[in-house]
Amino acid sequence: EKIVLAYSGGLDTTVIIPWLKENYEECEIIAVCVDVGQGKETDGLVEKAEGMGASKAYILDVREEFITDYVYPMVKANAVYESKYLLGTSIARPLIAKKLADIALKEGATAICHGATGKGNDQIRFELTIKAFAPNLKIIAPWRTWDIQSREDEIEYLLARNIEVPMTKEQSYSRDRNLWHLSHEGLELEDPKNEPNFNHLLQLGVSPEKAPDMATYIDLEFKKGIPVKLNGKAITPIELMDQLNIVGGANGIGICDLVENRVVGMKSRGVYETPGGTILYYAHRELEYLCLDKQTTSYKEIIANKFAELTYSGEWFTPLREALSAFIDSTQETVTGKVRLKLYKGNIISAGSESPYSLYNEDIASFTTGELYSHADAEGFINLFGLPLKVRALMTENANK
Ligand code: ARG
Ligand code: SIN
Repeated sequence: EKIVLAYSGGLDTTVIIPWLKENYEECEIIAVCVDVGQGKETDGLVEKAEGMGASKAYILDVREEFITDYVYPMVKANAVYESKYLLGTSIARPLIAKKLADIALKEGATAICHGATGKGNDQIRFELTIKAFAPNLKIIAPWRTWDIQSREDEIEYLLARNIEVPMTKEQSYSRDRNLWHLSHEGLELEDPKNEPNFNHLLQLGVSPEKAPDMATYIDLEFKKGIPVKLNGKAITPIELMDQLNIVGGANGIGICDLVENRVVGMKSRGVYETPGGTILYYAHRELEYLCLDKQTTSYKEIIANKFAELTYSGEWFTPLREALSAFIDSTQETVTGKVRLKLYKGNIISAGSESPYSLYNEDIASFTTGELYSHADAEGFINLFGLPLKVRALMTENANK
């Protein structure tokens, strides 16, 4: 039996290799690490997986695809979960799972194994995507079946088999990193009344107090809702995220502390660092304020919420998400132009925007009367617009006589 394992080199997936060998007789393990920008975490991973007993290991660099085909559609949608979370982990899972399914089919594997727990969202996101692309594959989720209950148990499991533990025994947060964000869960965060200890928690940037006293200006240019230039220079999606993360992190931007509703019903608390993403969302919205009409703006806000829920719940590869993306893409035809922002101690401050498709008309909006708009027209408009109010008031007057 061939099993494809979603492998990260961390504690969970390290324990899973010997566990699979002990529980699935003669199984052949193909370790797959899908690189969505976890940084140094992927160094030496092939050797590590093979050293543990995997017969083959893949590292797939999908960083560019991650940004262009997953993150950008989310930016165009302005998708935010529960008004705060920029979906950094949620958006990476469908891509990772799709790659696992591709390799499993190519290798003729019978199962895919992942290290997500039975309490979380990630199991749902992985498995919904696997069902969508490889409906006949079996799914193995050790956390839902084995006796291991904690990270301490995992370390003991390895020690009992004389296997080197991939990290020190010192406790650490449960983290998930990619080009878009870094999440932190666990330890003191598990009690919502505790303030997060930003000094030892943050990794992508600093807290606003520690940011420079001088503001930093940046210029972003979009074409049809997609960022194409930073500070006047054309830039690849990966470079853009790297640079926005650096400048955002340095200015204390994009730190989010949230008690959220998981798909499985419980609330959980996480701290998310999304410095570059927070800037990108803000800049994109600035352009939409210029370029989208009232009804499209308002309908798009409803769509944004649904889009975020679908993304959070792992329903990325569904007919509804695809249809919403088609709608959103159609709204982005004119979202082209330049946005200038000022970054200062955790704040993003608008510093002007322009677009060839701007619907803002100075002649109309100006307090100085112009040709296109007649003050006198307003009277008739208000009379009709207010007619239902007037009718209701007259009715009340009569009824109370
Ligand atoms: N709560 C967030 C989410 O559901 C972050 C999950 C982090 N996952 C992890 N394996 N550490 O998207
Ligand atoms: C996990 O439980 O595996 C991580 C957290 C989550 O999936 O929500």
